[in-house]
Amino acid sequence: MENELSQFKRQGYCILENQNINAHNIFLKKLSKSIDIDIDELPNLHKSIDYSNINNLRLNAFSDINSLDLKNDLYFSQAQLFLDKLLGPDISIQNKLNLSIQLPNDDSSLLQLHTDTISGQSAFEIVLWIPFTKCFGSNSMFIIPIQKSLEMMEKIDEYSDLGMKKLEEDYKEFMHFIEISPNQVLVFSPTLFHGNIVNTTSQTRISLNCRFKNIFAPESPNPERRLGTFYQVFKTSVLTEIALSYKDPYISSL
Ligand SMILES: [Fe+2]
Repeated sequence: MENELSQFKRQGYCILENQNINAHNIFLKKLSKSIDIDIDELPNLHKSIDYSNINNLRLNAFSDINSLDLKNDLYFSQAQLFLDKLLGPDISIQNKLNLSIQLPNDDSSLLQLHTDTISGQSAFEIVLWIPFTKCFGSNSMFIIPIQKSLEMMEKIDEYSDLGMKKLEEDYKEFMHFIEISPNQVLVFSPTLFHGNIVNTTSQTRISLNCRFKNIFAPESPNPERRLGTFYQVFKTSVLTEIALSYKDPYISSL
């Protein structure tokens, strides 16, 4: 665990072994049933579907996965020890798990270079990203490690006219395409620049992602990304439970 924490500190992200393969398999079975394809055939999904149907298929699978009983516990448990260390005992979770499907040569669902913080997320949250298929090369997500991401953020004003495409071009050599297998998970900071490009491999990539944050860490400046709108309470410490149930007769009578 110390090794992973120092990796996270050095890079702003790290890859861990999945701590609950049974939970992972529950999501995997749900996905396979929802899109009606054998688990082993998921990387070949593009061979058996009509590309124009991908959005319907994604939406159905998204809704089936999010309707799973105990989905929050099942999802969190796959990186529980690490997330407990990073976030402490009082944790909120994003309301929905996001599903990504990247078919080969599909340019309809690309995420240009960005940080989640630029899009209004809190810098205090983390993203837990879990693959269903092997991720490599351009079927994966790219991440720019923390030192370079911080440098890019410092220069962001210079690029307000040039645009994010130019920033992406100038920092291309620092893009690291995550190599990860379905028995591993990725944890990364929302302050890192990341995105994806057209998948030119011969395999479909399917992954889930979800954000977690300490309940008492500063909220996003964007009201739509806060506890109660974007997040829900996931778990609280015994001390927090006591404090929340406390009613002060003097203060409440004022
Ligand atoms: Fe993102």
